Amino acid sequence: MKIWHPFTQEKTASKPLKMVSGENEYLYDENGERYVDMISSWWVNILGHSQPEIADAISKQAHTLEHVIFAGYTHDPAENLVNILSQHLPKSLSKFFFSDNGSTAVEVALKMAYQYFLNQGIEDRDIFINLEGGYHGDTIGAMSAAGASSEYHSKFKKFFFETFSIRFPKNAEDEELSIYELERFLEKNHKNVCALIVEPLVQGAAGMKMYSPEFLDRIVEAVRKYGILIIFDEVMTGFYRTGTMFATNQIRNAPDIMCLSKALTGGFMPMSLTVTTKKVYEAFWSDDWNKAFIHGHSYTANPLACAAACAAQQILQTEEIQKNIRTISETHVVRLGGLPRKNIIATRSCGTISAMDLSSPELAKNAANIMFENGIIIRPLHNTIYFIPPYCISIDNLDRAYDILETFLK
Ligand SMILES: Cc1ncc(COP(=O)(O)O)c(C=O)c1O
Repeated sequence: MKIWHPFTQEKTASKPLKMVSGENEYLYDENGERYVDMISSWWVNILGHSQPEIADAISKQAHTLEHVIFAGYTHDPAENLVNILSQHLPKSLSKFFFSDNGSTAVEVALKMAYQYFLNQGIEDRDIFINLEGGYHGDTIGAMSAAGASSEYHSKFKKFFFETFSIRFPKNAEDEELSIYELERFLEKNHKNVCALIVEPLVQGAAGMKMYSPEFLDRIVEAVRKYGILIIFDEVMTGFYRTGTMFATNQIRNAPDIMCLSKALTGGFMPMSLTVTTKKVYEAFWSDDWNKAFIHGHSYTANPLACAAACAAQQILQTEEIQKNIRTISETHVVRLGGLPRKNIIATRSCGTISAMDLSSPELAKNAANIMFENGIIIRPLHNTIYFIPPYCISIDNLDRAYDILETFLK
């Protein structure tokens, strides 16, 4: 094997399955077997595979302008995309910086936040606050931001910058303790804190861990009163995953910086955005080159990716997709409620995401194997299994997944 796969122990992993095509919620392997993609292929494919309108938009753009350097040049697909997104984002988020994936969107946010203070002559704001267990990507900065509490990255901790982790609350009582500890930390250290970074409402890679909008508002308000910037990493939660266009829509406060990627292009092309406020942008606006944001990637705002995103965002707003989003969310609530309690520690859902903590990682693995044998792809996170389907999924297929799980658990 010449290819080294991501998140894979190559020695013990089974041979990767070769997929040859996709349509709607289905993927087809080289033997013609059909699978329901219940995880939207790492949470990116929200509108179904090989969606024809998105494919056509990319094709049309490829015949017109496939790429152009984005420093000193611009193009319609990028401008159209930011106009579409502006209709749905909080009004305060009006400046868009493009990059290529979720991790780079986070890197951009971290650098932007730090330089925002530097440009104002403030040099000692270098601590980031995060929420325990969070995940923001695999580049060094994104790993650092999540802190050593993230089990994915702890072996690299000697390269990490300083962070303070807010305790992840297990219940309402725990929220008080988390806020208390945060406030004590801020009293002593607020002058050195640059930004808070969190996955709003749902921590994806941590195991679809969910927390309340009230708690999110409280940590934002506790931090913001010291002039610390707020970064929402909506790489996973964006585009109706939590039921609303952005998780941000469910709370009182808007962030100063928001990271978007994954579903942005409907899962067709890698691209991301770091969106910020006029206030942050103006800290970089200067006659001095040193105050500019010196960051970029070769493929920044690739026109094919922008064309895919424009098409995806338009489809996302259609009545049909909006109705499916509501039906998926309701189905999760009903079906989770009906699961046998045996072998399940906890269940939860938020919008189109449902998660079930089983009694052991082995059981979760077995559940995934049974699902696979029945033509449904899931990918457990330890003892947690979750469904995060494309919005085009038929409710019959979603029900079937719950039926198989129910029978297995019984
Ligand atoms: C919340 C969050 N942020 C950032 C990332 C990193 O995105 P990417 O894998 O595109 O680098 C992920 C990926 O799962 C994520 O869930």
